[in-house]
Amino acid sequence: MVTVIHSSHELQNLNQDYKGKIGLVPTMGNLHQGHLNLLKASLEECSRSIVSIFVNPTQFGKGEDYNAYPRTLESDIKKIESLGEDVFIFAPAVNEIYGDSVETDFSAGEVGQMLEGNIRPGHFDGVLTIVHKLFEMASPNRAYFGKKDYQQWRLIEWHAREYFPNLAIVPVGIERETSGLAMSSRNNYLTESQKEEALELYRSLSQIEKILIVDKDLRSALEFIQSKLSDDDRFNYLSIRKQSDLTPPLDLSEPLVILGNLQVGSTRLLDNIEVAVE
Ligand code: PAF
Repeated sequence: MVTVIHSSHELQNLNQDYKGKIGLVPTMGNLHQGHLNLLKASLEECSRSIVSIFVNPTQFGKGEDYNAYPRTLESDIKKIESLGEDVFIFAPAVNEIYGDSVETDFSAGEVGQMLEGNIRPGHFDGVLTIVHKLFEMASPNRAYFGKKDYQQWRLIEWHAREYFPNLAIVPVGIERETSGLAMSSRNNYLTESQKEEALELYRSLSQIEKILIVDKDLRSALEFIQSKLSDDDRFNYLSIRKQSDLTPPLDLSEPLVILGNLQVGSTRLLDNIEVAVE
């Protein structure tokens, strides 16, 4: 059975004396298979699963798509119901979460200003603020995040280590369309021809992966990136980073991640591929 809760007090009361394992899947709704995979992981590992559906204003910058962001609660509920499992949905209003002050409480620091943070100033401060509030309200033992938002996952993991040491942050791999396009709620903004155009991101990441794995050549991979960035201004960034701290690598000795963001029309799409060169 699916139970929808709108009040944070109700959520707190529900979990206060619960002795089993609680899994939290934070989302902004407009659910797709990637979200359902997060929920399935929670259902497998926890005795109670909560999906939060909340379009968080503090992670959107001026001129971003906060007002236009798809709000599809009814169809999200149906998608969750179709799993045939017991799930709680927490779908609060903005004032339930923020009261009168829609402001950020945390800074995501230097890593929060690079890559996504560089093109979306303050975005990760808003993300850390909302997940912190959700962790406090839901008291989860495990919280599930998609690896498509790689930088977000890493920042939340570091934040949780500091403020919620007993909470496990569980990453779940990227779900792709058969074309290779990473699933995202923002894909709904794309026309069919833009979806084709969007494949350039995964194609470029895969080419860089090949240079790293087959040629084992960091310098050629960086040259490839340089030429892509100067030839194609749709790339907001394309970068190789160390998985450990998201700084640029000096060599191939550590596990790496190739991250990219491509502008397709007015939509910015993210993707990444993890690479460990043997
Ligand atoms: O990845 C998202 O959908 C959002 O950034 C999150 C983690 C739910 C916080 O609003």
